[in-house]
Amino acid sequence: MSHQVEEVPAGWAGAGTLPGLHRPQDPGTRVQDYIHTHRAALRAQLTERGALLLRGFDVAGVDGFDGAVRAFSGTPPLAYAERSSPRSTIKGQVYTSTDYPQDEEIFLHNENSYQAVWPRTLYFYCVEPPTTQGATPLADTRQVLRSLDPEVREEFERRGWQVVRNFHPGFGVPWQEAFNTTDKAAVTAYCAEHDITAEWRPGGGLRTTAVRRAVHRHPGTGEQVWFNHATFFNLTTLAKDVSAGLRAIFDDPDLPTHTYYGDGGAIPDAVTDQLRAAYRAATVRFDWRRDDVLIVDNMLTAHAREPFTGPRRIAVAMAEPSDT
Ligand SMILES: [Fe+2]
Repeated sequence: MSHQVEEVPAGWAGAGTLPGLHRPQDPGTRVQDYIHTHRAALRAQLTERGALLLRGFDVAGVDGFDGAVRAFSGTPPLAYAERSSPRSTIKGQVYTSTDYPQDEEIFLHNENSYQAVWPRTLYFYCVEPPTTQGATPLADTRQVLRSLDPEVREEFERRGWQVVRNFHPGFGVPWQEAFNTTDKAAVTAYCAEHDITAEWRPGGGLRTTAVRRAVHRHPGTGEQVWFNHATFFNLTTLAKDVSAGLRAIFDDPDLPTHTYYGDGGAIPDAVTDQLRAAYRAATVRFDWRRDDVLIVDNMLTAHAREPFTGPRRIAVAMAEPSDT
């Protein structure tokens, strides 16, 4: 790994060691060539560090980024199914990271960990850096799990967790967008195949319920990881005014998105407070630079988005579907 440079660049902050930073010796090096040459070592380092930052390479736009995904994963990027966040397609299976309002933080999460199948590897590409903030903070999910009280961890291991989503007509992401179809039968079939209970509601709404494991074993390392959306989708993780507004409109079972223990029991506020604190304590952040490519092991590392000002444009792709 002669090209490998381990350093702490300006703008880094946080307690952990991730990600591994790589820079080219020759500034004209194409990122996909670098990945081809060093693929085995890069993949091994990703499993150890949880994330890799490739900085200063020639990415060659979205097509080059797509090539980097194929070079590293060995497969084309995945389509974004069962959506919870607004995204636009840039090209093929390369998407905007999110179209979520720029003045709001997006809390730490592991992509699609509420689904029966999730991507093992995520890719981010900085097309246009923001003016202020707008980082993609990262948190080591091994560290998050280690830092939880044993009782909290055991309760989730025993009971699992559950997400209930309500798609109300005219409110939030419509089911047609979440499932990328206007065919109710197709949604019902998708849910049946993916271990989701689907309930069509009077007035055209849809309620989905999924029960998942909270703690997973990483297939590459055998380590246990905190891998779920129990915190992210819990109402209390939203800004106070937003959660209060939603509570004023909806009874708990009708909330657009909320989480419970797997048997439907409420997760106490003290527990969600502890979970958020554990994520925050494990967080590392860096400032985006143009043409940065960030590769994330989606089970070892949670990611977030800071609020930002300026033109921020981050492309994202996902690859290597996994259900274990
Ligand atoms: Fe995400």
